[in-house]
Amino acid sequence: MCGIVGYIGNKDCVRFLVDGLKRVEYRGYDSAGILIYRKNTAEHFLVKNVGKIIELEKSISSNLSGNIGIAHTRWATHGEPNHKNSHPHVSNDGNIFLVHNGIIENYTSLKKKLEKTGFTFYSETDTEILVNLIQHYYKGDIEKAVKEALLDVKGTYGIGVFCLNEPDKLIAARLGSPLLIGIGKNENYFASDPSSVLKKTSEVVYMQDREIAVITKDSVVHKTLDDELLEKSIEKISFELTDIEKSGYDHFMLKEIFEQPKTITDSMRGRLLLEEGTTKLGGLNEHPEIYNSLINADKIYIVACGTSWHSALIGEYMLEEYAKIPVEVEYASEFRYRDPIITPKTVVIAISQSGETADTLAAIKEAKRKGAVVLGICNVVGSSISKETDAGVYLHAGPEIGVASTKAFTSQVIVLALITIDIARRKHLSFRQGYKIVKELKILPALVESILENSAVIKEIAKKFSSAKNFLYLGRGYNFPVALEGALKLKEISYIHAEGYPAAEMKHGPIALIDENMPVIFIAIKDTIYDKVITNIKEVKARNGVVISIASYGDEEIDLISDYVIKIPDTTNLLSPILTVIPLQLLAYYIAVEKGYNVDMPRNLAKSVTVE
Ligand code: AGP
Repeated sequence: MCGIVGYIGNKDCVRFLVDGLKRVEYRGYDSAGILIYRKNTAEHFLVKNVGKIIELEKSISSNLSGNIGIAHTRWATHGEPNHKNSHPHVSNDGNIFLVHNGIIENYTSLKKKLEKTGFTFYSETDTEILVNLIQHYYKGDIEKAVKEALLDVKGTYGIGVFCLNEPDKLIAARLGSPLLIGIGKNENYFASDPSSVLKKTSEVVYMQDREIAVITKDSVVHKTLDDELLEKSIEKISFELTDIEKSGYDHFMLKEIFEQPKTITDSMRGRLLLEEGTTKLGGLNEHPEIYNSLINADKIYIVACGTSWHSALIGEYMLEEYAKIPVEVEYASEFRYRDPIITPKTVVIAISQSGETADTLAAIKEAKRKGAVVLGICNVVGSSISKETDAGVYLHAGPEIGVASTKAFTSQVIVLALITIDIARRKHLSFRQGYKIVKELKILPALVESILENSAVIKEIAKKFSSAKNFLYLGRGYNFPVALEGALKLKEISYIHAEGYPAAEMKHGPIALIDENMPVIFIAIKDTIYDKVITNIKEVKARNGVVISIASYGDEEIDLISDYVIKIPDTTNLLSPILTVIPLQLLAYYIAVEKGYNVDMPRNLAKSVTVE
């Protein structure tokens, strides 16, 4: 969603700020702006634009330079994307500039209070209220004024503040919206995402909730909002520049699809114990008490959104079949507002690629309020969800930039399998069964590679169906959630309507849609319910539906009843989603490209949804 970048030093920072914004373009936005201050002439320049950063660049005059600046990409929440609603916002007296991610929930009451004291508002944003609240408290000390204003605020924020009266410093503060300080030499930076500062530094300090930082070119002072000085440790950004570049691929999504043999390997690294026929997860073993709660749980809730919710459904099948623990998968947004029954033996697992999804964070807080032990499965190291949970497991899939999640999904399924096997082996799963699954895990990256090598076949099928108006995705058992995920991928990036269903459920309604224009994608691998899926395929064919099957190598029967077949290798049942999803990711990608869409930045979508 929104992105923030800031710089203070001696060098010209215009390029750094614009490039920093470009690094977070993938998160989704609809306007952008920049405030630049030039020390030697004490001049400042505010440039804002609706639309893409390239438009902002066009509006920035070629001789604009300055050595302090704050910049922002906005994803509209309060008020439409237009010039006056874009950030940075400026206080009525023209002295204070603010960039803000998050939502000020009590903005209406704050606005009324400020209006009574003579303030005027020109935009529809909550941010303009905050910058004027800071002005309201400003008596010559910007740090103090920011603190006082933030104590009045209810909601979430990651903010960057610049004050013309005190041009030797920038102020940053956070509550529920990520912010970090980049440490440079005679210059410092702040940003909402580490990728925005990585070109300059890999040394960062992650801010925590209710913290404020006073940043000059030579120093960074961290405090709590209550003025307590903090000693913060400097951390290294856990990825490299090449991880956030396209490296020759046309899109990040394609790069991330093709990276999966590596990311799957990375998610398993050091976690497989073949000789013992089991797995181990440091993030859980280091917290034995918390892990024991999971092993001995009599009920697990898994909360997540979108693609992470689909991997949660696969986790439900795994944990119930192998670990024998009842599992309920909930949309995080629903869990939070209903009254889930949490007993002393209930454990909640939250799954999130970004670790910043507001609905999932809120569900975690609700679960904790009710006394549950909460575990996290996250990709982004140091993210809000990883901090908010009692313990957890990282995916180690590297930064995922394509808005349509691909490699995070396969890594989530891997991590869920690793947890399942460890718990199951501690209970009743035999060495022989455990050994067989771990052996399959080891060869999984090579199997994924072999599917990717076959991408030309999928590209051809994509060309044939790019003008279809509707798609139906059907699968059973472990591959029912994959049908949902395949449909979501197609909807997100090609804007084609697609539905995922359990294959048998088709005859209870969706069968009415089937005709010669309706491509139906079947996940029909040779597993225990293969014969049932074949029956479902025949039902579609009997109604002139067009069938595209994802099937096992060596299956000849399927060739006779499908219009198109994509063959993949076999693996054990609980790992099959990792193989079946790959052709569906590629199919969605190639269809969207065929239609000429911007795959990495689909309309209306944000990479991490930080509002509820
Ligand atoms: C996936 O392709 C989506 N863009 C979206 O559904 C995403 O999975 C969802 O917003 C959850 O994000 P998270 O995993 O970062 O919490």
